[in-house]
Amino acid sequence: MALALRGTLLSPHAAGGTLFEADGLLLVDAEGTIRYAGPFRAAKYRGPVDDVRPNLITPGFIDAHAHFPQTRIIGCATGPLLDWLANSVFPEEARFTRAAYAKTVAAELVGRLAQAGTTTVALFSSSSPSATATCFSALAEAGLRGIVGLTWMERLGPPALRITTKAAVAASERLIRRWHGFDHDRLRFAVTPRFALSCSRSMLRAAGDLAGAHDLPVQTHIAENDHEGVATLKAHPYASSYLDVYDQAGLLGPRTILAHAIHLTRRDFNRIGETDSTIAHCPDSNFFLGSGRMRLKPPLSLGIRVGLGSDVAAGRSFSMRRAMASAYDNALAVGHPVALPELLRLATFGGAEVLGCAATTGSLEVGKEADVVVVPQRRATPTLDAALAGLIFDTDETHVARCYVRGRRLV
Ligand code: GUN
Ligand code: FE
Repeated sequence: MALALRGTLLSPHAAGGTLFEADGLLLVDAEGTIRYAGPFRAAKYRGPVDDVRPNLITPGFIDAHAHFPQTRIIGCATGPLLDWLANSVFPEEARFTRAAYAKTVAAELVGRLAQAGTTTVALFSSSSPSATATCFSALAEAGLRGIVGLTWMERLGPPALRITTKAAVAASERLIRRWHGFDHDRLRFAVTPRFALSCSRSMLRAAGDLAGAHDLPVQTHIAENDHEGVATLKAHPYASSYLDVYDQAGLLGPRTILAHAIHLTRRDFNRIGETDSTIAHCPDSNFFLGSGRMRLKPPLSLGIRVGLGSDVAAGRSFSMRRAMASAYDNALAVGHPVALPELLRLATFGGAEVLGCAATTGSLEVGKEADVVVVPQRRATPTLDAALAGLIFDTDETHVARCYVRGRRLV
C-alpha cells in the first residue's frame, strides 16, 4: 500500500451513520484510492504502518463557500453586509487586477486551506480573469480540490471591479477551456454571479445560459440580509421573491450552490427542493455581519443537500472546525440543537454532496479517493463523543497535523 495510517478513524458514512474506530487503519493504494478503513486488528495487515496514534484521522474538510480575494481582510468589522462590501471588500478585491498581488495572496490562501485541513473548496474569485486564473494555478499546484468562479458583477462596487456580461462570458469561456475538468475533475469552473444586486436580469440570464451550455456548477449568494432582500426586489421588480430572480434566470438546479439562505420562506425551500439546488450554510459569517440565523431544519427535512461554508472573510476562520462550532451555536440559538455527528457530516460529506463530488470524496470509505486529514487529539483512548468534542470545540490550535488529497500529502 502507498499509505497505511493507524489512528482513530472518524468519518460519516455516505449511507448515514458514523464510522468510529478508536484504533483504526486506513489503507490507500498507489492510485490514491482507499482500500480499507476499519479496525486495525481486523485488517491483518503486515506491511509498514505510519502510526499517528493518538491522533484522529478524518476526511478532509470541504468548505462549500469562501472568497479567495478576501483572504487578507478577515475581521474587518465594518458590517452589516452592504456597508462591509463597500467599505472593506470592494477596495480589497479591486487590488486583484495586479498580477503580483493576486499571486502572493493565492499562495497564502492555499497554505491556509491546507493548514486548516480543507481539501476541497468552492471559491469565488474577484471579477478579474487573470486573478481567477492565478487562483486556479495555485490550487492546481498545491494539490487541492475545488471549484472556482470568476465573480460576475456589473453593478454595485467601484468601476474597477465591474465587468460587462460580454466580457464575463468571454473570460469565463477561456477559463472553462483551460481549467474545467483539470486533473480528472480535481478542479472545475463555476458560473458565479456575485448576487442579484450586482447583476442585471440579462447578466443573470447569460449566467444561466452559460451554466446550462457546459453543465457547470453555479454559485451565488441569497437572502443573507434583510436590507439586501428589500433592495433586490426593488432592483428586480419582475420577480416574486429573491429566489425567483435566480429561478427566472435558469440558475437553479442540482449543480447550484446558494450561500446563506437565511431569509427564505417555506415556499422558497420547497422550490429549492424541487430544483434539487443546494445550500452553503455560513453561520460564522452570519454572526459576524449580524445577517441573521439560518434554520437548518426546513432544508434538511426536505432532503435538500446542505454543506458548511467558512465564507471568509465574513467568516473569521478558514477552519471548518470553527465553522462547525459556529453551526452548533447557531442551531442552539434557533432552538433546534444539532448533534455533533451531524456537524461533522455537514463539514465533510455534506459539502461533497453540495459540490457534486460525493462519489469521490467526503468520507473514509473503500473505493473513494483518499482526501484525509490527521487532527491532533489529546486522549489516547477516545470515545466517539470525546473525539467529536475535541475535533469541533477544542480548537485553540486549528492547524491539522497532515493533509492528503488522493493519498498525496500536501505541504
Ligand atoms: N454578498 C455579495 N457579495 C458578498 C460577499 O463577498 N460576501 C458575503 N458574505 N456576502 C456577499
Ligand atoms: Fe460569501
